[in-house]
Amino acid sequence: MSTSFNHDEEVIRQAVALLRQGELVAIPTETVYGLAGDACSDEAVARIFSAKGRPRFNPLICHVHKLDVLGDEVEVSEQSRALAETFWPGPLTLVLPRRSGGNVSLLASAGLDTLAVRVPQHPMALEILRTFGGPLVAPSANRSGHISPTRAEHVVGDMGADVSLVVDGGPCILGLESTVVDVSVDPPEMLRPGCISRREIERILGPLGSGAATGGSPKSPGLLARHYAPTKALRLNALTVESHEALLAFGLPEPSGACVVHNLSPAANLTEAAANLFSMLRELDRSAAESIAVMPIPGEGLAEAIRDRLRRAAAPP
Ligand code: TXA
Ligand code: MG
Repeated sequence: MSTSFNHDEEVIRQAVALLRQGELVAIPTETVYGLAGDACSDEAVARIFSAKGRPRFNPLICHVHKLDVLGDEVEVSEQSRALAETFWPGPLTLVLPRRSGGNVSLLASAGLDTLAVRVPQHPMALEILRTFGGPLVAPSANRSGHISPTRAEHVVGDMGADVSLVVDGGPCILGLESTVVDVSVDPPEMLRPGCISRREIERILGPLGSGAATGGSPKSPGLLARHYAPTKALRLNALTVESHEALLAFGLPEPSGACVVHNLSPAANLTEAAANLFSMLRELDRSAAESIAVMPIPGEGLAEAIRDRLRRAAAPP
């Protein structure tokens, strides 16, 4: 495995050559690093599942440089097109009805009759996709259930030899996975909150559904209760802190007494907090503290997405 620290054509050429051979390449996106493989190769897709230790029932997102690449694979309604035109390239994933007879591996969508699609905005991801031409599946480049990677070195630490190349595109500017919207149901539903808020989606689509359409079963199989989890226990909404705890603070003042402190954003800026969340969780997880206390993250929009990740990270194993 090698890591490149260059944003040049040579790295992109190398990444694409490996992907064409069915190898796995970690690529930077604006949200988190993705573990990319050829979406049309059953073998590459199967390797992604086994490298991540990911349950086979949990489908993957297809990344493309433009929607037309998937013209024969998915049905695109007017609503979906409006979302795509507004938010792509960017941190939005659309779950679309799958057409039969396409080239994308059936394993990618884990047997569902839908396919999740996104056009990322990171220039290196876009250039790799453009040069590759076809769709790439790319889940977050971490072992299943672990904290998502927002820096190339996180991927190296987590995935090790299972990835042929880690393309270093710097720290991810957003730091939280894409918002997932299922437009295959009526009304559409938000399956995963992210940097694009419910309100921004509803401005285009009107009111989103509440989840009733799925009868309570996990429609997005990845939305299991425990996810993004550090090895240390997490205590949420902490207003005080004990000396055996690490503190993940937000805003000022910070309660005193923690053995180690990281502040997601001293100015209580949510964009800054989202970008810092996963890397600070990783650092506190490596600290000598017994467990991690997290201050409340109040607010709507991005704050909801951050609370969602923290709730899953705190869920009991
Ligand atoms: O920001 C992101 O979306 C990152 C970057 C790398 O693009 N990718 C990412 O992938 O977060 P992953 O595999 O970690 O999360 C994909 C989520 C999972 O919760 C999965 O269950 C859901 O999307 N998903 C994928 N295909 C689906 C489908 N057909 N129907 C419902 N949910 C789906
Ligand atoms: Mg993930």
